[in-house]
Amino acid sequence: MSKNKTIKTYGFGVVAQGFHNYLVVNNEEERLRTVIIKNPTKVRKNINAIIETTNENTIRDKDVDVIVELISSSEEAYGIVAENLEIGKKVISANKKLIAENLEELINIEKENEAIFLYEGAVCGSIPIIRVLNDLYANEEINEVKGIFNGSSNYILSQLFTKGISYNEALIQAQKLGFAEADPTSDVGGFDALYKLIIITAHAFGKVVKPYEVLNIGIQSITKNDIAFAKQNNLKIKLIAKASLKNDDLTLSVFPTLIDDDNELYNVENEYNGVLIDSDNIGQQFYKGKGAGSLPTGLVVYSDLKAIDSNYRYSYKKLNQENLNLSSDVKGSFLLSLDESTTIDQLDLPLSNLFTIDSEGKRFIVKLTIDELILNKYNFNKLNISIIAIDDYKLTNKLIEASLKNEVLTV
Ligand SMILES: NC(=O)c1ccc[n+]([C@@H]2O[C@H](COP(=O)([O-])OP(=O)(O)OC[C@H]3O[C@@H](n4cnc5c(N)ncnc54)[C@H](OP(=O)(O)O)[C@@H]3O)[C@@H](O)[C@H]2O)c1
Repeated sequence: MSKNKTIKTYGFGVVAQGFHNYLVVNNEEERLRTVIIKNPTKVRKNINAIIETTNENTIRDKDVDVIVELISSSEEAYGIVAENLEIGKKVISANKKLIAENLEELINIEKENEAIFLYEGAVCGSIPIIRVLNDLYANEEINEVKGIFNGSSNYILSQLFTKGISYNEALIQAQKLGFAEADPTSDVGGFDALYKLIIITAHAFGKVVKPYEVLNIGIQSITKNDIAFAKQNNLKIKLIAKASLKNDDLTLSVFPTLIDDDNELYNVENEYNGVLIDSDNIGQQFYKGKGAGSLPTGLVVYSDLKAIDSNYRYSYKKLNQENLNLSSDVKGSFLLSLDESTTIDQLDLPLSNLFTIDSEGKRFIVKLTIDELILNKYNFNKLNISIIAIDDYKLTNKLIEASLKNEVLTV
């Protein structure tokens, strides 16, 4: 009987408590036998399960059927996940960094030991995107997956657009409200979105990529002027993670990106996430939902448990696409904005490559490959240049044409 499968959680924080809520409302609380935590002196809500602290004997617990790994550290989580998969356990995790950095190895351990490894909670909170990609899209070639995968940075960007405050003020506000971590680097630097993109790419395209192989640019250097420029041209800036396939070339990136209201992601605000999938037969599909939080993430972790109860596992039907190349030799358009002290000649880019769109020579559109961007990244950082991708060539041409007619508003 599936309901007899016993459960042990590692961690009893934000997500684990959300998961526990769904066990309680579905009369399955008695399945949760043990909860492993770190700090024994912390005051917690009363639950029926035995609460223990981590020690070496708690891993590889043969008496429990399902291990639900919901701790904060990806390094410590590795042993919990890998060692339990090695003994054929059914393991659930929401730890995107752990999964993105070790995906190939974890899939192999899962297969070799006939274990089950599910991780819907790791990607885009309440949106069941891994199940959609693994099941529905197993039999459909995908051209592109892109989206807003990080609620904290999206919340900050929404505040910048609606409140007219600076990036630092918005960050402090997000931290006070619990939308951003005390150390926000992973969220605002685009790393969290990158980890999710890596996991999505394995299911959407069958290619396992390492996080260090992909360029991610965060939202930290976006200025009030960038926001004013976007607003005056009826555009928004969103942190967009994207994987696109052209012929056999797969290109991945995470960039702050200028989008117009033709893009479904335009209206994804605050802590919400959005995912757009484009394929030839289905066209474009759009998913939107809360990207984090106790109950939204707890619910998908609970749905992983229900999937395990029916012996569901990811098929990874597209995995091992030997023909696909990871390519960063693909041109895109970028908006570069200089601060007061910087001049155009310090950019070290051929002038023929730059299209000036303001009268003061501080704002440019440039077409660069990701490889060229990587080469220039150090210099751009040093000069405090804000780099914002432009969604597509249609929008780039619109901005260029408007500036030629002097319609692009500049600030
Ligand atoms: N928060 C979200 O909205 C969200 C959304 C999607 C995915 N996730 C992912 O879900 C996971 C959990 O996140 P969270 O927000 O729930 O974290 P959290 O609120 O910080 O809770 C972490 C829990 O892990 C416990 N813990 C830490 N190290 C441990 C160890 N070595 N052994 C056993 N327990 C340990 C902590 O114990 P103490 O209680 O004793 O401190 C705490 O109960 C993370 O991988 C996160 O990236 C979170």
